[in-house]
Amino acid sequence: MAEDIEITGITKEEKYRSLVPQIKGLLEGEPDTIANMANICAALKYGLDFFWVGFYLIKNEQLVLGPFQGPVACTRIHKGKGVCGASWQKNEVIIVEDVNQFPGHIACSSLSKSEIVLPVYNSKKEIIGVFDVDSENLAAFDKTDEVYLKQILEALPF
Ligand code: SME
Repeated sequence: MAEDIEITGITKEEKYRSLVPQIKGLLEGEPDTIANMANICAALKYGLDFFWVGFYLIKNEQLVLGPFQGPVACTRIHKGKGVCGASWQKNEVIIVEDVNQFPGHIACSSLSKSEIVLPVYNSKKEIIGVFDVDSENLAAFDKTDEVYLKQILEALPF
C-alpha cells in the first residue's frame, strides 16, 4: 500500500480539496474505526500542519483520549468541561478563536491558541465522541474547516 499524502493548493480550501479525496481513498475498504481515525489524524496533522489533531471517544459517560497526532494530551474529559465536553453536551460544532477567552477551556498545551471541535456520529446518528483540531495560531478555524472536517468524519465507516 503506497499511501503518501500530497497536498496541492495555496489556500486552506484548496488544501482541503486536495486532501479530502485522498483521506477517503485511505479509508476505503478498511472497516476498523480506530485504524481509520489514526490515519485521519496523521493525514490532517501532516497535510495541513495543525498543532494537534485527535479523537475523544465516549466511554462510561466520559470522553477518553483516542487516536491523535501531536503532543501528549489529557486523557479524560467530563461532559460539559472544556471545548470538547461542551461540544459533546451541546451536540454541536464549536469554533474557538482564542482559547484563553473560552470559559473552562482545558489547556493540554499552552501553545494551542485556537481550536475547532466537532461531534462524531455513528451510522445511527448517535454521538460517539468528538474530533478536536488545535492550532498554534489565533482564529485558525472557520466555516471552511467545519465543512471539510465534517466530510472527512462522514467517511468513517461505522
Ligand atoms: N482543549 C480541549 C482539550 C483537549 S486538548 O486541547 C488536546 C478542551 O478544552 O476541551
